[in-house]
Amino acid sequence: MRCYAGNPNRGGVAAASYKPLSSVWDGEDNELIEKMLNFYPKRPPRRILDATVNRGRFWIGSDRWVIGLDINGHHRPTVIGNNMKMPFRDGAFDVVVYDPPHIPNQGRDRLKDFTTRFGLGERSPKENGYNFSHFYGPFAAEAYRVLKQDGILLCKITDYVHHHRMQWAHIQVILAASSVGFQPCDYIVKIRKGPIIDPRWKKAHHARRRHCFWLVFRKSNKCE
Ligand SMILES: C[S@@+](CC[C@H](N)C(=O)[O-])C[C@H]1O[C@@H](n2cnc3c(N)ncnc32)[C@H](O)[C@@H]1O
Repeated sequence: MRCYAGNPNRGGVAAASYKPLSSVWDGEDNELIEKMLNFYPKRPPRRILDATVNRGRFWIGSDRWVIGLDINGHHRPTVIGNNMKMPFRDGAFDVVVYDPPHIPNQGRDRLKDFTTRFGLGERSPKENGYNFSHFYGPFAAEAYRVLKQDGILLCKITDYVHHHRMQWAHIQVILAASSVGFQPCDYIVKIRKGPIIDPRWKKAHHARRRHCFWLVFRKSNKCE
C-alpha cells in the first residue's frame, strides 16, 4: 500500500481556536478538504480513506496519511478495489472521502481528458435511469461499516441534466447515506471555474451548473 505522506499518528493538534467555515467555496478541492478535516471531526483524524482516489488530486500538498482506493489500477491507487465491497475491516477509518463518477454516457472529450479525470466515460443503463444512483447505496453501506463511530463521510457530488431530466445526484446520495444510518449534517457549495458542457448542447433550457456540493455526513445520530 502506498501512503501519500505523513504518519498515521500525526493526529495534529486540536484546534485551539474556532475558525468558522463558509458554506460557499470558490477555491480548490484540496484546500477545502484540509479545512473540512480541521472543522468537522471531533478529534483530529488519523486514518483517512479516499474511496475514489483516481490520481489523488485531493491530496496535493497534503501531509495527511491517506489510503487511496480505486477500481481502476491504471491510476495506481494505494489499493485497487471496489468501494461497494471494500477490503478493509470494520471501523478502520476516521474519515471517508467519496467523489464518484458523474454524468454518465457522455461522448469522449479528448481535449479535456474528462473521461479519465472525471469518470465521464462510465455508462449507466436505462434500468438505472441513466444515472449513477445505484452505486450510492452499496457504497454508503460500506462507508458506514469501515468508519469508526462518529466518523465523517465527505462526498463531492454534482447534479446534472441528462436524458431530458434533472438528475438530483446530491439528493440521491443524501437518501442513500441516511438509509444506512448516516446523519446528513452539512453541505458546502463549491463554485466551478466554468460549467461542464457537452459541446453537442449549444442551447439548453436549464441553468448551466456552475457548482457542485460537498456533502458532510457523520456516523452518529447527532451532527455535533
Ligand atoms: C471523479 S473520479 C475521482 C477524481 C479524484 N477525486 C480526483 O480529484 O483526482 C472517480 C474515480 O472513481 C473510480 N471508481 C469508479 N467506480 C468505483 C468503484 N466502484 N470503486 C472504486 N473506485 C471507483 C474511477 O475509476 C475514478 O478514478
